[in-house]
This record gives sequence, C-alpha cells and structure tokens, in this order.
Amino acid sequence: MSALPVVQVEDLDVYYGTSQILFGVGLSVRKGETMALLGRNGAGKSTTMKAIMGLAPRAGAGSPCGAIWSPG
Ligand SMILES: Nc1ncnc2c1ncn2[C@@H]1O[C@H](COP(=O)(O)OP(=O)(O)OP(=O)(O)O)[C@@H](O)[C@H]1O
Ligand SMILES: [Mg+2]
Repeated sequence: MSALPVVQVEDLDVYYGTSQILFGVGLSVRKGETMALLGRNGAGKSTTMKAIMGLAPRAGAGSPCGAIWSPG
C-alpha cells in the first residue's frame, strides 16, 4: 500500500456567493482506505465532495481557497 495519499485536502474554504460553507477542511485518503464524511444535514458533506471533484466554487471574498491534490 502506497504511503502517499491519493487524495489530500488542506485548509479548504468554499463560498456560495458571500456565504462561507466550508472552513479550513482538511483530509487525507490513502490507497485502499475508506473514509466516511459524517455530519448533520447541511454540514457541508456534499460540498466537500463537490470541491474535490472541482464542482464547487473554492475562491471567494479574497480568501485563500486551500489545496487539493493527489501525491500518490
Ligand atoms: N448551490 C448552492 N448554493 C447556495 N448554498 C448551497 C448550495 N449547495 C449547498 N448550499 C448550502 O451549503 C450548506 C452545505 O450544504 P451541503 O449540501 O454540502 O450539506 P450536506 O452535509 O451534504 O447536507 P445533507 O446531509 O442534507 O446532504 C447548506 O447550508 C446548503 O444550504
Ligand atoms: Mg449532501
């Protein structure tokens, strides 16, 4: 099993318009690992996945939007 993550997320912010939805989300998934995103309705689970897939706006309000990459 690779020691490098296949998905690495650091300090991720997402805004819908002026509403900040994600605040500094970070996660790391290695090959073969299963990760579950848990949280109440509207906590931002789907938004986190959309950001990783490039489907959510990651920049807003002049704020840094974090990093998503795949080192492994
Ligand atoms: N396209 C959008 N425009 C504006 N706000 C949005 C949009 N999509 C989601 N939101 C808001 O972002 C927040 C997070 O929503 P998200 O769908 O990521 O939550 P979730 O954890 O997946 O919720 P659920 O458990 O209901 O699936 C909620 O307040 C939601 O109303
Ligand atoms: Mg959802």
